[in-house]
Order: sequence, then C-alpha cells, then structure tokens
Amino acid sequence: MRKKVIAGNWKMNMLPNETINFIEQFAPLVKDTKNEVILCVPFTDLFYALLHVQGTNIKIGAQNMHWEEKGAYTGEVSAQMLKSIGTEYVIIGHSERRQYFAETDETVNKKIKSALAVGLKPIVCVGETLEQRENGKTEEIVTNQVEKAFEGLNLEDLSKIIIAYEPIWAIGTGKTATKEEANETIAQIRKKIAKMYSQKEADEIIIQYGGSVKASNAKELFEMSDIDGGLVGGASLKPDEFSKIVNFDK
Ligand code: 13P
Repeated sequence: MRKKVIAGNWKMNMLPNETINFIEQFAPLVKDTKNEVILCVPFTDLFYALLHVQGTNIKIGAQNMHWEEKGAYTGEVSAQMLKSIGTEYVIIGHSERRQYFAETDETVNKKIKSALAVGLKPIVCVGETLEQRENGKTEEIVTNQVEKAFEGLNLEDLSKIIIAYEPIWAIGTGKTATKEEANETIAQIRKKIAKMYSQKEADEIIIQYGGSVKASNAKELFEMSDIDGGLVGGASLKPDEFSKIVNFDK
C-alpha cells in the first residue's frame, strides 16, 4: 500500500519570520497524521525551516538546484549544499521553471541524477498545457517527459523519487483537473513506469497530483486509486488551509 505524500510548494513566497510563524502554527495541526508532510521553501528560508521542524513530522525540501557539484555558476545552489544543511527533498522540473527559466527534459534528467548522488529525494514535475490536452496529446507529452527525466536511472533510484503530475492549465488558475482526469493521467504514468522498469516499481512509486488543490477538493482527489497525495501551491501558504489538506482523511 502506497502512503499519501502531501507537499507544499511555497514558490517565491514567505520570509524567514513568516516561515517560523507558519511552522509554529502548522506543526501541532498535523502532528497526528500518518501522511508524509513536506514543505518546499525558498532557499533563504531553508535553514530556518530546518531548525524549526526539529522534533516534528514535517520534512523540508528546496524548489530547485543546479546539477553540477560546484564551480563558476553564479547564483546557483548545488545538491550537496542543500543536503549539507539537512534538506531532504528537492522539486525538479516544475513547469514554472521549464516555462520561465529554460528548464528542459535534459536538465531535469541531470538534476535528478545529481540530487540522487547526494541522497536528496527529487519531486519530479510533469504536465501538459491546455492546448496539448485539447489536442488529445496528454498521455504522449507526460509519458515522454517521464521517459526523458528518468533516462539512465536504475531500479534502486526509483524508490527515492516522487513524481508530481501537474497539468499546467490547472496551476494557480483555480481550475482543478477532475478527479477522473487526474487519476487517468497518473495511471498512464504508472503504466509507462511498468514498461520502463517493472510492474512492482509502477505499483510502488508515489505519484502526486498538483494544480489548484485546496481543502475543499483534496479528499476527492487523494482518495482516487492512483493519486498518492498532492503538490500544493497557493493553499500551502496558510497553516489552517494546508493542515486541512494534509488531514484530508480525518
Ligand atoms: P497551485 O496549487 O497554486 O495551483 O500551484 C500548484 C503548483 O504549481 C504546485 O507546485
């Protein structure tokens, strides 16, 4: 049985004092959940977040990294740097990074390998545009992204990776994929993993849904057979709202 993993993606929001306040309010609200809880925070909040989640069940992730170990890459942060302060997860290939920062399937693949090499767990994002969905291309686009992202990875790597299926048209738009649409595409991703690796890996890998998840729709989405939780943007910025999403099964 796969567990449910609920991750907040704060994007470019929250200052250190807001991070500390958030965790103080949020931690008691989610302390009894059996679901995995992750906060993916801006680089400048990481250290504060890591200090303040000590003794709680909350895990911390970053939102991006560079694939090289070190060197002349002004402004970049390496996997080792994230790992060295205790970061456990890192979002890789978010559609906003693909769209605004020239992230490609190739750089996504390099980043995943680099994260795994130091023991950081990647949350790998895939998803189609509205035009691609309307043209019936969703399965092709999304499974192709998975294939390229996972190129050269072996079986053992797979258990450390989370996939987040985030239809681009559902991000920040208030327009959620229906539970059936989300479940169907996630099932197609699982089928692809079975083809690339084995049925066992396909059955075990955690695949989240992301895109306008809120307290009012989390339960119906997360109860679907193939959806293993969510990657939550806007609704993860409020402790009360996000705790209700984490506690969707209570
Ligand atoms: P919203 O939940 O704000 O739509 O954002 C989803 C997302 O991009 C999470 O990574």
